[in-house]
Amino acid sequence: RPRLFSGMQPTQDSLHIGNYLGALVNWVSMQEEFEAIYSVVDLHSLTVDVDPGVLRTRTRATAAQYIAAGVDPAKSAIFVQSHVAEHAELTWVLSCITGFGEAGRMTQFKDKSSKRGSEGTNVGLFTYPILMAADILLYDAARVPVGEDQRQHLELSRNLAQRFNGRYGETFVVPEPHILQATAKIQDLQEPTAKMSKTSPAGSIDLLADPKQTAKRIRSAVTDLEREIRYDEAEKPGISNLLSIYSALDGRTIAQLETDYEGKGYGDLKKDLAEVVVGVLGPIRERAMQLLDDPAELDRILADGAERVRPIASATLARVYDRVGLLAPS
Ligand code: TYM
Repeated sequence: RPRLFSGMQPTQDSLHIGNYLGALVNWVSMQEEFEAIYSVVDLHSLTVDVDPGVLRTRTRATAAQYIAAGVDPAKSAIFVQSHVAEHAELTWVLSCITGFGEAGRMTQFKDKSSKRGSEGTNVGLFTYPILMAADILLYDAARVPVGEDQRQHLELSRNLAQRFNGRYGETFVVPEPHILQATAKIQDLQEPTAKMSKTSPAGSIDLLADPKQTAKRIRSAVTDLEREIRYDEAEKPGISNLLSIYSALDGRTIAQLETDYEGKGYGDLKKDLAEVVVGVLGPIRERAMQLLDDPAELDRILADGAERVRPIASATLARVYDRVGLLAPS
């Protein structure tokens, strides 16, 4: 079976529905066809200031949500990035074939660093996409299921793989992104022209949130001054976003939803959508809570995942070290 890799940062107490629809749903469906490896990328999350205790809690919570959403630890390896030392080690080698300007062109870096200023921007934020390339290339992953915001990072991973192969001979599989257009970019409920993200909690729907809070957030989602329920990203970004979420969870196409809601109001749409969302997320939340009640079992799953992937990572790193001419220890 071809291999697949993906990961999420444990930078929030809960994943949001953008993470779920943009990535996690695909993780679950793809684990049948692929040998899947899913990581909680804790090293990446050190690029933001976080309390050490909180980071540990969020790392377990992120893994619990993978499983609660349907990632099966018997089929797929689930592990914590920092448990496999090769991620950091391969990052160094890849950073030595990455151009300074090339890394500087990453739009996520440009956005974040312009907000934080040069003193507030750490070097980790700059090399972040190189660590991401290492994650993927270590496992010869052919596919990487992610949301639209990771497309450019994936492109960098591909370029680095091709560059390394060109310079040192075939070493890495060149990974393909797997991005499903319909759910690749879930927007913020309060600011529907921006993507839903961890930095704007009021505009997100969280997997671990209380159902009442979820319903309230959907009810107060920003819409527009018309009354018609119609998909139109430019004129009606709020309603379009709600329709995308609805369609992804409920299975009806957007065209069908438009027909079904003809003559109805935004309030009706929001009320029904809240029910659909709570119906899907409720059981995930409950399963995640159960898993978090037994951290020892969760840690065992994560240890098992790391044990399964470590031989793959160490073989790749050895191959890379040899190719570039690092003297093997005798
Ligand atoms: P992260 O943790 O920000 O997001 C996790 C996944 O969720 C997707 N996503 C979204 N999809 C649709 N709509 C949204 N509003 C939305 N917000 C987030 C992201 O595209 C991602 O798939 N750099 C990565 C983590 C990472 C990684 C990797 C991913 C590190 N190494 C290797 C794949 C392969 C990140 O910060 O994702």
